[in-house]
Amino acid sequence: MKDFKRILVTAALPYANGPVHIGHMAGVYIPADIYVRYQRAQKRDIIFVGGSDEHGVPITIRAMKEGVSPQEIVDKYHAIIKESFKQMGISFDIYSRTSNKVHHETASAFFKKMYDDGLFEEKETEQYYDEKAKVFLADRYITGTCPICGNPNAYGDQCERCGSSLSPEQLINPRSTLSDAVPVKKKTKHWYFPLQDYEAWLKQWLLEGHKEWKNNVYGQCKSWLDNGLQSRAMTRDSNWGIKVPLPDAEGKVLYVWFDAPIGYISASKELTAHWADYWCKEDTRLIHFIGKDNIVFHCIIFPAMLRAHGNFMLPDNVPANEFLNIEGDKVSTSRNWAVWINEYVKDFPGCEDVLRYVLCSNMPETKDNDFTWKDFQEKNNSELVAIFGNFVNRTFVLMKKLCNDKVPRFHNQLRDDTDQKLIDEIKNSKTKVEHAIEEFHFRDALFEVMDLARKGNKYLQEKEPWKKTGAPAPDGDQSLIDNCIHLCLQLTANLAILVNPFLPHTAKKMCHMMKVEDRMLDWENAGKTDLLSYGYNLRSPELLFRKIEDQEISMQVEKLRANALNQKEKINMEEPKREEKPQIQYDDFAKLELRAGTVLACEKVEKADKLLKFEVDLGVEKRTIVSGIALHYKPEEMIGKQVIVVANLAPRKLKGIESRGMILTAEDKNGKLYLLKPENLVTPGSPVS
Ligand code: MF3
Ligand code: ZN
Repeated sequence: MKDFKRILVTAALPYANGPVHIGHMAGVYIPADIYVRYQRAQKRDIIFVGGSDEHGVPITIRAMKEGVSPQEIVDKYHAIIKESFKQMGISFDIYSRTSNKVHHETASAFFKKMYDDGLFEEKETEQYYDEKAKVFLADRYITGTCPICGNPNAYGDQCERCGSSLSPEQLINPRSTLSDAVPVKKKTKHWYFPLQDYEAWLKQWLLEGHKEWKNNVYGQCKSWLDNGLQSRAMTRDSNWGIKVPLPDAEGKVLYVWFDAPIGYISASKELTAHWADYWCKEDTRLIHFIGKDNIVFHCIIFPAMLRAHGNFMLPDNVPANEFLNIEGDKVSTSRNWAVWINEYVKDFPGCEDVLRYVLCSNMPETKDNDFTWKDFQEKNNSELVAIFGNFVNRTFVLMKKLCNDKVPRFHNQLRDDTDQKLIDEIKNSKTKVEHAIEEFHFRDALFEVMDLARKGNKYLQEKEPWKKTGAPAPDGDQSLIDNCIHLCLQLTANLAILVNPFLPHTAKKMCHMMKVEDRMLDWENAGKTDLLSYGYNLRSPELLFRKIEDQEISMQVEKLRANALNQKEKINMEEPKREEKPQIQYDDFAKLELRAGTVLACEKVEKADKLLKFEVDLGVEKRTIVSGIALHYKPEEMIGKQVIVVANLAPRKLKGIESRGMILTAEDKNGKLYLLKPENLVTPGSPVS
């Protein structure tokens, strides 16, 4: 590895359209903070920048729905997020925001320079437009009826009922979610960044030059690059965001993924006059902490932007994490399936480090992981309380009882193998933790710290100082007691140093108990066994961790489920806006050929959870029909049933199967589907009218 003089750490800027949850913490902010705290303890020159991402479509949509301005939305959530980070001990040197002036100027100038250098392509295309709300619509803000399963609430990019991916053109009766207007196509001009021009360079720089990146990151980048890059629009039609700094660009703003990463630069500018040392000098190490959904932006698009603009450093590493699920289910803001940090800190005051511990030991470093409240309780009670807290507490209590409440002397001539082993373990732990953190293996690093505490307990158990009688030093039992307690205290001091990057509140408490200043936590002190000197008078022990009761856990589980249920009801309440279609004439109806048919065969469609493939007898012919009802009916219960089929619907290919017709269902308010069928058995092929 190159020799670096400075480190610049960034953590993804969270969207200021909601609070942050444990998924954000485990994926991005806790690993970033551990890394930064460790580097600071190593006295390295480092800055840690972050802030809120305050532009983009979701924020404007949210504002429109709540009937407030986008600025009000971002003001509210920026404050909540900032406070959550502070409470969780995420030690940003600056936590800024992208709606502020420095950022607008910085991003604007960045764009302008690229424009002046002729690095954009100007293109006019047709896009969907909502004439009532007067905005262009991203695909997912268009809804309509799914042409495949008939779901009336399919999105312009996907039908959530049958899982088909769609484009807005395919929707029957498309509507804007904002105003219910029928979207129309409208011409619009944008500035595109030709990523394909940087493909060869990216392959060289990333695929050849950064083979050391984590597999999940490298793999994703490789597949993007192997699939070939294309021009991407770097501007959008909107009035919320950074105005495109060109004369003929009324109503156009920078694409949020263009401006947001530049936010790292703006935040650094705000933080220090020496910001350019961190951004422009080759001997700076730039590290982006992000979640996996941000990989392409940080590993491909932003580096290409930096390269195109010139004068900037490229990231040296991007240790992205996978996702953290909750109780076996994906975190979802829209379903409110999440553990929100602002609520956690209220429900568990003083337990910020517990969450840091659990999220770190469960960190989704190589694959998605699961958070469960049961496991949270288990890790607290049987690791933090029973191992770490217990060791520290026992050490203090024994010192008080057996050593006159002072740090006892270490009688070197009496040192035995067990002592020596512990001394070696203390030294080794430093190296192990250090290496693991430098390699971004935070779970392993934390495990080593906990393991050292475990070894401390084992040492005490072997020595059993409480069984010895205190004959006077130097050679009575008291000397053996002294040696044991002395080493346990040195170990406690080491634990404070090693645990500090992970559990900073705990380390601070430990320093207070040991009556030492915070600078004892400097990393160079790790591994030493002379940190607390003989005769030193320590304070009484404080409780580092408390037990968490079953009842607290069941309340959280209930809360999680109740939140999700409430959300569902909220959505159902909002949605009785049943779609009223315009009146039609009999002739329109008569165009439909509806027939009753009998199901001859039915099976699941491979790699599509929601689809069933039917063979339906329509009298004169047999039809293959694919229908999105697999979550509601089992294939075997379908056979022999009669169904109503739209027989003259144009054929469509679904997962490679040609579907010729559609089976009719009725949907109840919970989204459950029921087949329509004739009251009595009829001859297959009977007309329906
Ligand atoms: N707001 C984005 C998200 O939450 C992350 C932006 S990271 C930045 O996914 F680099 F663009 F700032
Ligand atoms: Zn569908």
